[in-house]
Amino acid sequence: MQILVERKPIGEIRVEALILAIFEGEKGFSLDAAELIDSGEVTCRPLELTLIHNPKGMATIRVLLAGAGRSEQFEPAQLSKLIGAAVRYLKSRSVKTIAFEMIAGRDGRDWASAAVEGAVLGSFEPDRYKTSGDKKSVESFALVAVEGMNEIEEGATRGRILAEAQNFARAMVNEPSNIKTPRAVAEAAVRMAAKYGLESEIFGREEMVQLGMGALLGVAQGSAEPPTFVIVRYSPSFEHSQVHLGLVGKGVTFDAGGISIKPAYGMQKMKNDMAGGAAVLGAMRAIAQLKPEIRVTAFIPCVENMPSGCAQRPGDIVTTMSGKTVEVVNTDAEGRLILADALAYARKQGCTHIVDVATLTDAITVALGHQRMGLFTNHDELRERVLRASEAEGERMWHMPLDEDYKEYLSSSFADLANVGPRFGGAVSAACFLKEFAAETPWVHLDIAGSAWLDDGRPHLCKGATGLPVKTLVRLAADWTD
Ligand code: BES
Ligand code: ZN
Ligand code: ZN
Repeated sequence: MQILVERKPIGEIRVEALILAIFEGEKGFSLDAAELIDSGEVTCRPLELTLIHNPKGMATIRVLLAGAGRSEQFEPAQLSKLIGAAVRYLKSRSVKTIAFEMIAGRDGRDWASAAVEGAVLGSFEPDRYKTSGDKKSVESFALVAVEGMNEIEEGATRGRILAEAQNFARAMVNEPSNIKTPRAVAEAAVRMAAKYGLESEIFGREEMVQLGMGALLGVAQGSAEPPTFVIVRYSPSFEHSQVHLGLVGKGVTFDAGGISIKPAYGMQKMKNDMAGGAAVLGAMRAIAQLKPEIRVTAFIPCVENMPSGCAQRPGDIVTTMSGKTVEVVNTDAEGRLILADALAYARKQGCTHIVDVATLTDAITVALGHQRMGLFTNHDELRERVLRASEAEGERMWHMPLDEDYKEYLSSSFADLANVGPRFGGAVSAACFLKEFAAETPWVHLDIAGSAWLDDGRPHLCKGATGLPVKTLVRLAADWTD
């Protein structure tokens, strides 16, 4: 999709559809809008869409009135969703050229970025493997600048970079697990890194054995697909900060549960168990282009969790890279096992701060539903940085507890730790397990099991992978200036 910036009077914009955002209590600037609002047909409530054909006195073929709700509650994150919903609506009606008139007073970088993000995310479709039916696509999206607006081009570029990175993650997660093997994820990461000037390195089984990654190898041993450990490195050109941010992503390309096998119903969705890894790779793609001032390294342990004659058994004991031993009570709690070794490796690489992203527990969905990701931490300052970035990006999170005494949940008679606790508080005991491997390093864990996947589309996003929290990770790195 082409992104354009137009600086023409609105009446002269000739596209198949022009989006006009209207707030509650406003009359609307076009004659048609005023009539529709007066008649009560248009209420301007959030995400209300009304299509007008051949609008009076305008060159555009259609106008789409897009309800923006109350003006004082309208932030860039709302604009992004509104444009996403509008673009999805128009795309489904085969509209190919779209423009949006920027709102007076809501100018500048963040608004332009949000509008473009919405358009690029809204035009994404999970139809790669569909061979029949007409595939619709939007050819161009233009921002129409109101006089006096500045920084629009810069914002539009940033929005395109962010949304394309998020779509990159979404497309990866939507891939089926027969294609998206641990090796294929590693190859995609290497290709992405080469394209955007990042360094990359891939470990196979041999390197994992040398490093002592016993927990990762234990999960991998049940699958015919060999595991990979992906490392992608970004270094700023002038390194004046001591900060080295590690982004660790769970990369389970399919989670059948292993010997503690999952029920058949819904198991196909377990291709989404590498969404954390995909988000981290997506973030690196954008970081390479936006060039923050700090060092950022991504670590993604990629593995398939399968039952087989050589799979690990409940009761097996593995020795992690950190030296701690773990009793594998449930082979379906594999995410924390592979992350234990990835966290230890990120620490060894000198990361001063670590954020891990993982579809870790069903329990986080029980606690928070699909609206917010769970955030767990051992460090208040890093938590505040992540929460600030997430609020600004509209990728909502919720700070969950991680008191010392939750550790009792993970006691084992045979090893240093068990990999599961009792039934209740499952998201907390999973985080508690990871905390042991983050040790003293400032660390945030994001459990995205509830928010990485949509069973049904939303107005602004199609069903399938959401690509969360790519934008938060990018902003975290981009805003880190000290
Ligand atoms: N990948 C799952 C968690 C998950 C569930 C992600 C649903 C997305 C949607 C994870 O590996 C898992 O199986 N967790 C278990 C842990 C349990 C065995 C302690 C769970 O949450 O049921
Ligand atoms: Zn599992
Ligand atoms: Zn899993």
